Amino acid sequence: MSSIMEMKGVTVSFDGFKVLDNLDFCIAYDELRFLIGPNGAGKSTLLDIMTAKTRPDHGKVIFDEKINVTRTSEHQLVRHGLGRKFQTPSVFGSLSVYENLEAAIGFKTSIQKLVGKLSGEQKDKIEEVIEITNLKDLRNMPAGILSHGQKQWLEIGMLITQEPKLLLLDEPVAGMTRRERDHTGELLHKIAKNRSILVVEHDMVFVRQFASTVTVLHMGKLLCEDHVENVQANPEVIEVYLGRGRGHKAA
Ligand SMILES: Nc1ncnc2c1ncn2[C@@H]1O[C@H](COP(=O)(O)OP(=O)(O)O)[C@@H](O)[C@H]1O
Ligand SMILES: [Mg+2]
Repeated sequence: MSSIMEMKGVTVSFDGFKVLDNLDFCIAYDELRFLIGPNGAGKSTLLDIMTAKTRPDHGKVIFDEKINVTRTSEHQLVRHGLGRKFQTPSVFGSLSVYENLEAAIGFKTSIQKLVGKLSGEQKDKIEEVIEITNLKDLRNMPAGILSHGQKQWLEIGMLITQEPKLLLLDEPVAGMTRRERDHTGELLHKIAKNRSILVVEHDMVFVRQFASTVTVLHMGKLLCEDHVENVQANPEVIEVYLGRGRGHKAA
């Protein structure tokens, strides 16, 4: 099976400590994958490796079947179709929702942006994104007044305007209300239709509700990768992750 992201034997050490240990990990085309694991398991480091923010000590990282990530820069990968969202929203507060999306789509076409014209295709794309992110009524409002959840959706929308082939989201529902989490889950399923998405998440209610295949990382190694129901029933997973007591945040 072909993969949008394929990692083999990836090892990363910080001060002699192996944060990722000979890790094999793949994401298929059009897949929506969830990644969980206790604090310090190496989840964010795994994203750093995929986005060329960090170079592995050993191992192979191939994006979209042909791009050698370990020899590519972060911004080249963005151009090749890799999108990453960090935990805190970074929208332009003084610009409207629409203008934020305009700026995001302009990133790819800076020459058009200079003459101040979006193509019809780009306008359609922005309308489509406003629709799926549920921000229609707020399109002319400054993004600064949006709720935390709405800012997160706008930022996901800004990434979508770039048509990433693979979207990486680090804890997208942190700080959201239950209702906002539900909206986010639905949004993820909508935008996953023609692209791959990797979601790092520790909210198990959210994971149960919206995940199918879940990967569990523990001490830089793959502990288990299976359907969410099997993952939850896996004794090792319960031991290291789920069985840490109710309410314990094991991000
Ligand atoms: N730049 C770094 N320098 C040194 N140690 C780091 C660095 N980044 C992460 N680590 C360490 O690597 C381990 C895994 O971190 P991280 O990937 O952030 O885990 P997670 O996202 O699963 O909580 C932790 O022990 C962390 O302290
Ligand atoms: Mg992390």
